[in-house]
Amino acid sequence: RTVYVNGAYLPEAEAKISVFDRGFLMADGVYEVTSVLDGKLIDFAGHAKRLERSLSELDMPQPACLPDLLDIHRELVRLNEIDKGLVYLQITRGAPDDRDFAFPDPETTAPTVVLFTQNKPGLSDNPAAKKGIKVISIEDQRWARRDIKTVQLLYPSMGKMMAKAAGADDAWMIEDGAVTEGTSNNAYIIKNNTIITRHLGNEILHGITRAAVLRFAKEAQMKVEERSFTIAEAQEADEAFITSASTFVMPVVEIDGTAIGAGTPGPVAARLREIYLDESR
Ligand code: PDD
Repeated sequence: RTVYVNGAYLPEAEAKISVFDRGFLMADGVYEVTSVLDGKLIDFAGHAKRLERSLSELDMPQPACLPDLLDIHRELVRLNEIDKGLVYLQITRGAPDDRDFAFPDPETTAPTVVLFTQNKPGLSDNPAAKKGIKVISIEDQRWARRDIKTVQLLYPSMGKMMAKAAGADDAWMIEDGAVTEGTSNNAYIIKNNTIITRHLGNEILHGITRAAVLRFAKEAQMKVEERSFTIAEAQEADEAFITSASTFVMPVVEIDGTAIGAGTPGPVAARLREIYLDESR
C-alpha cells in the first residue's frame, strides 16, 4: 500500500512517525473516514468541513496541506487502485521534543498528517445489509465532547468487544437513560413511518452520513424527529438502523435480545439505504 505522511507518498513500510507524536502519546489527534464507491469519494465536502471544526475546537493548528486534502485523497485512491473502500485521514498536534501535557508551540511543532486507504470490495453490497445486525446496549463512558472526532477510540473498541462477547455485532451507548449513538455510527429507530434519531449536541458525533440521510428522507417526504429515545422505545419500534461512512444505512434487527419488528430488515431502512447509495454517488 502507498500511504501519505507529511507531504510524501510512501510504501507503508517506509512511513515513519516519531515516538513523541502526541497522537501516539496522548490521543491528541482527530480523524475522518471517507468512503469510496466506484473510485469516487462520497460526501468529501462534509468530512472536510467536520475536520476543520474538530481542529478548531481543539485549538489545533491547521496543517499547511489542508487545502490540498481532496487532491491527496484522490491521489491515494488512484495509487492504490481503490474501486470500493475507505480513505482514513488523521491529523495530530505533532511531535514536540519531549513528552509534556501542555500543547507545544505551533511555530515549532507542525501537525502530523497521515492518510491511508482500505480496500473493501464488498463495501456497498455487504451481506449484513440483507440480514441486519444485532446490537446490545452499554453505558456511554466516553468523554463529554463526542462532537469532536478524536482518535480516543478505546471505549468504542471495548464496546465492540462487549458486543462480540454477547454474540452481537455492535453496541448502542446509553446516557441518562437515552441512547446516544453506536460505537462508530449514529442510531435510529422508525415508528409509524417516522424516523427518530438523537438531536445534535456535544453528546454525539455529527455524522456526515446522518446529515445526508436525513436530507434525503425529508426530500422523500418522510417524517423525521430529532430527539433522544430509550432502549425500551427502540425495542417497541417498527425498525431500527445505524449510519456511518463505512456502513451507509445498516438495518438493526435485534436490541438486547429483543427482535425489532419482524426481526428482519424493514422496508424504510432498505429504502433509505437504496436512496443513499443512489443519491450520494
Ligand atoms: N465512525 N458516531 C461515531 C461515534 C462515529 O465514530 C462515527 C463514524 C459516526 C458516523 O459518522 P459518519 O457518518 O460521518 O461516518 C457516528 C467512523 C466511520 C469510524 O470510526 O470508522
